[in-house]
Amino acid sequence: MVPSPFRSLHHLGIAVPSLEEARPLYERLEGVSGSLPEELPDQGVRVLFVGSVELLEPLGEDTPVGRFLRRRGPGLHHVAWAVEELAATLRVLEKEGFRLIDREPRRGAGGHRVAFIHPESTGGTLVELVEAPRSLPEP
Ligand code: CO
Repeated sequence: MVPSPFRSLHHLGIAVPSLEEARPLYERLEGVSGSLPEELPDQGVRVLFVGSVELLEPLGEDTPVGRFLRRRGPGLHHVAWAVEELAATLRVLEKEGFRLIDREPRRGAGGHRVAFIHPESTGGTLVELVEAPRSLPEP
């Protein structure tokens, strides 16, 4: 049986010029305090989570999020779904013709295993998959 590739929404990634300037707005909207920032040098970003929102601040102009901000300004950058078995899910999606940015899982925020799918094959939205164990409560 082919597993259902996506289980539930995990977070929304929002590009911002400054984590600290953006934090109060999203804390107000989500009604919770944000996490401590975490630097992900291989993705060229600093991130912090406010509830279900991941704020992304570029580490420089010549990074994916830096270029995104220059082209489009602050706003929604990616949508992330939780999946149980990321490597297996990537194989299934690749067979189905999805254009994968990451053919293998890599380390994302919070030590999660993550992978991105190119917006060309997902209707214009950059999609992130986050491996989350089955034991988490279902929504
Ligand atoms: Co994300």
